[in-house]
Amino acid sequence: MISIEKSSKPLTGNVFVPGDKSISHRSIMFGALSEGTTEITGFLKSGDCLSTIECFKKLGILIEHSQRPMNGVPTITVHGKGLRGLKKPDSTLYTGNSGTTTRLLSGILAAQPFDSMITGDSSIEKRPMNRIIKPLSQMGADISSAMGNDCAPLIIKGGKKLHGISYHSPVASAQVKSAIVLAGLYSDSDTVVYEPALSRNHTELMLRAFGADIHNEVDVRGSSATILHPGMPLRGTKINVPGDISSAAYFIAAALLVPGSDVVIHNVGINKTRSGILSILTQMGADIQLENVNESIEPRADLHVRYSELHGNENGRFEVGGKLIPTMIDELPIFAVIAATANCTTIIKDAAELKVKESNRIDSVCNNLKAMGADVEPTDDGMIIHGGKPLHGTDIDSDADHRIAMSFAVAALAAEGTTRIIDDKCVGISYPEFFKDLRALIN
Ligand code: S3P
Repeated sequence: MISIEKSSKPLTGNVFVPGDKSISHRSIMFGALSEGTTEITGFLKSGDCLSTIECFKKLGILIEHSQRPMNGVPTITVHGKGLRGLKKPDSTLYTGNSGTTTRLLSGILAAQPFDSMITGDSSIEKRPMNRIIKPLSQMGADISSAMGNDCAPLIIKGGKKLHGISYHSPVASAQVKSAIVLAGLYSDSDTVVYEPALSRNHTELMLRAFGADIHNEVDVRGSSATILHPGMPLRGTKINVPGDISSAAYFIAAALLVPGSDVVIHNVGINKTRSGILSILTQMGADIQLENVNESIEPRADLHVRYSELHGNENGRFEVGGKLIPTMIDELPIFAVIAATANCTTIIKDAAELKVKESNRIDSVCNNLKAMGADVEPTDDGMIIHGGKPLHGTDIDSDADHRIAMSFAVAALAAEGTTRIIDDKCVGISYPEFFKDLRALIN
């Protein structure tokens, strides 16, 4: 448990958030399936990404942690074995709390010559896996839920010949898209995944850097297709992981909430499929400047954030929905906290996916905001927040969800009295040093 008081001082200074979680997972996975070595800098050493490393070690991949001799930069070296080099694990693969590991790894395992089983913690065992079981089965894979409830543990029978499919995913999900694409690498024909809106495209950008023939196409109606032509070998490469915009979002929020704050968050990934939070907050009047923009494969920038009073449109309302939602899906809990302090009514819609994250985030956000005195109503696909009510400290039940714990630690800075985050350890899933970095900006 951790206690946090209302911040009487502005937040000032510089912070380097840890590496992007989605890119870190993929750098291990794609490195393992490549020929030659992959050298990763900026890797996120958190619970989720360490789960990915452990799974690939069990699949026979040598992964070494070292420091670069000249500058001491921590580096991870993955000794890839090519698309057909994984070995049969001698026990169940354990993915911890990580949906990305569970779903992407399932796509890879579906194409292997050996049988395997995959499961995770109690949260993972409740998350929907039918969304990958269905398309992978259509590709010819033999994958099923051990308990028959469409959740993990998943049993995957090896030795199946896979074929490419054209799949219309009902949800914009990078995990679903990536699981299909990874199985598609082993298929005998092209794979196309259509989604209602483009979800994060790290798999596409990174697989291309590893040598795959893959690209996105967006049609006039805005529907998006990801197209993979299999047959190209993957080759090890160098990956420099930018800071995670999902982690940066907590400091953006803290600076916007506490009067007088002025914070620079360095080297943050600003891929357009991830940065919806920046455009929404800017529309609400947030002072966020992008400095030192670097347009590499995964673009990045320093984010300079100054305290700002946020507002709605001329009717005092603000709506967030549609194609923007996948670009800020993990930032919606902290966005809801910001909205609760803004002088407007905010409607979050088209975000039913929040219900199937590490916790049911519609419930966990609304219940905790209400407990702090906010005026918020849950809806079927989001919530309605009548902002501007004063917040007060209370006990926060994070439901063991890292993003809920961090969002309400930030809310605490603007709440009268003391807020206690009951399960603070869960921040280790994506940001082990979160409380230390937050404290450093306050003192
Ligand atoms: C992720 C995709 C998103 C996101 C998750 C990470 C990824 O999930 O919420 O934290 O790395 O592909 P969905 O694909 O289920 O939307």
